[in-house]
Amino acid sequence: MNKPRILMARAVFPEIIERLQTVAEVEANQEDVLFTKAELVAKLQGKQGVFTTGTDRIDAEVLAACPELRICANMAVGYNNFDIPAMTAAGVVATNAPDVLTETTADLGFALMMATARRMAESEHYLRAGLWNRWSYDMFAGSDIHGATLGILGMGRIGQAIARRGALGFGMKVIYHNRSRLSVELEAECKARYVSKDHLLAQADHLMLVLPYSAASHHAIGAAELAQMKPTATLVNIARGGIVDDAALAVALKNRTIAAAGLDVFEGEPMVHPGLLDVPNVVLTPHIGSATMPTRLAMAGLAADNLLAFFSGQPLLTPLNPDPRTP
Ligand code: GLV
Repeated sequence: MNKPRILMARAVFPEIIERLQTVAEVEANQEDVLFTKAELVAKLQGKQGVFTTGTDRIDAEVLAACPELRICANMAVGYNNFDIPAMTAAGVVATNAPDVLTETTADLGFALMMATARRMAESEHYLRAGLWNRWSYDMFAGSDIHGATLGILGMGRIGQAIARRGALGFGMKVIYHNRSRLSVELEAECKARYVSKDHLLAQADHLMLVLPYSAASHHAIGAAELAQMKPTATLVNIARGGIVDDAALAVALKNRTIAAAGLDVFEGEPMVHPGLLDVPNVVLTPHIGSATMPTRLAMAGLAADNLLAFFSGQPLLTPLNPDPRTP
């Protein structure tokens, strides 16, 4: 029987390619060319599987142009780059890479919150610029993490991991809002209290966004929501660009209607709203939430394992839609 053919849409660890080559013919992209939609469609001709990252969009147009495609394995927990209903309608399996990145991403969220509250980027730039010539009583005085109220919007696995860090490690009071409330047991484990979104916005000293992106969460934090926050509050977005209205956030930071923000994701990234580059009270990182070597290797391994399972007739590990192979 002919081996299935897989496209790697982006560059990845060479050992992952070698593993996939045990069952498939693999077209790698180790030059990490960013394919246009037309180029992706051209590359996908004759391919049954594709290994994607969050930057590769699989929509109805791509699916219609690639009738041989049967599985798309995303090396990301978020899958807003996939049109799941269109994939299901086309009988194409979608998988993502959850769990393996939860703790690493929670670490980054916490680091960003601390860097934001304690003004670490701003003060480092000051020092590097040679401006530090004396100590002064209020120099880069920020806000406390310990004992403060941590508000979490989106209480999935990563939100829960952040809640545990805050409550157990830093004695924070944790409040959260989510589409659905956690079980009593999970709330007790995370020491987190469910509140309305309005309460969350008004009460959080540090607001952390960890919800998935969808049409419903687009601009979940815009000018009106920013206006509900305390002037001393900080906002951290490790979820997805588009959940925050970045233009409105730049205005709030400039006018200091909130104290500061920490952002790992941006609307239209890798472009960054120019207003965010102009203000000092924001810590900016280039979408590195899951970026440790062991975690990135685990994410790539999980995406590859889904492809290996699919092409060897085994159940999928982390499916996002019904598997058309099962009756
Ligand atoms: C990263 O943003 C992911 O969704 O895994």
